[in-house]
Amino acid sequence: MFGLTRARTAAPLVAAAAAASALTAAPPAVAAPQPIVGGTTTTTTDYPFVMQITDASGNQFCGGTLVAADKVVTAAHCMAGESTGGVRVVGGRTYLDGTNGTVSKVSKIWINPDYTDAANGDDVAVLTLSTSMPYTPAAYVSSSQTDVYAAGTTARILGWGTTSENGSSSNQLRTATVPVVADSSCKSSYGSDFVQTDMVCAGYTSGGVDTCQGDSGGPLLIGGVLAGITSWGEGCAEAGYPGVYTRLATFSDLVTAQVHS
Ligand code: ARG
Repeated sequence: MFGLTRARTAAPLVAAAAAASALTAAPPAVAAPQPIVGGTTTTTTDYPFVMQITDASGNQFCGGTLVAADKVVTAAHCMAGESTGGVRVVGGRTYLDGTNGTVSKVSKIWINPDYTDAANGDDVAVLTLSTSMPYTPAAYVSSSQTDVYAAGTTARILGWGTTSENGSSSNQLRTATVPVVADSSCKSSYGSDFVQTDMVCAGYTSGGVDTCQGDSGGPLLIGGVLAGITSWGEGCAEAGYPGVYTRLATFSDLVTAQVHS
């Protein structure tokens, strides 16, 4: 395992981030705290399909993407151990401490039945909302759209996660762009933890821009279309260790079956 951490509740998120750093030969913390890690602030007006996933008390612990008025794609590792009563989805809320937007309960949590651990792949879940979201959903890749993962393609990441490896979450939604990394290169970084059929890597060779703890479950967009789900990585934004995302095309038909269920 390469410092895989989970963020299933707000408090364990902090503990998990600390545990991840303890496992890592941490580079000197020279970089100024930055968004996602490296990036800029944005809003849910610009990205209306980006959802906060919170516990019943409203503490955000993961992201998600609205793909239909009442369906949200997120990571399986975000939902493992959760029950419908303990989860809320919040749309149209740019700030973690905001009170605007739409809060929905969850009537069903579908976790990919093959999921065991993010490092084994299969990291996809679909939530059915009790209240439809009045926001434009995102399109997602079809099973045949494998071309979007060509190395060097620009991808967009979004979330409220920590702005550095040991940092705190961002109150405002952040975004950044990162290039898709060749599968061969990601395999060199992560060895057998990189499951090529189920995962795609994105980031700069030199690091500096990445998703981080609390961004999990949120979108990786390619050409404006949902193509990946924030899943795991060694630390955050470290040189030679890109972020690892669920390769959504592999799971597109499974997701569609849930969206239409
Ligand atoms: N597992 C993390 C979460 O639960 C996401 C980590 C992404 N890490 C990375 N280096 N890109 O929020």
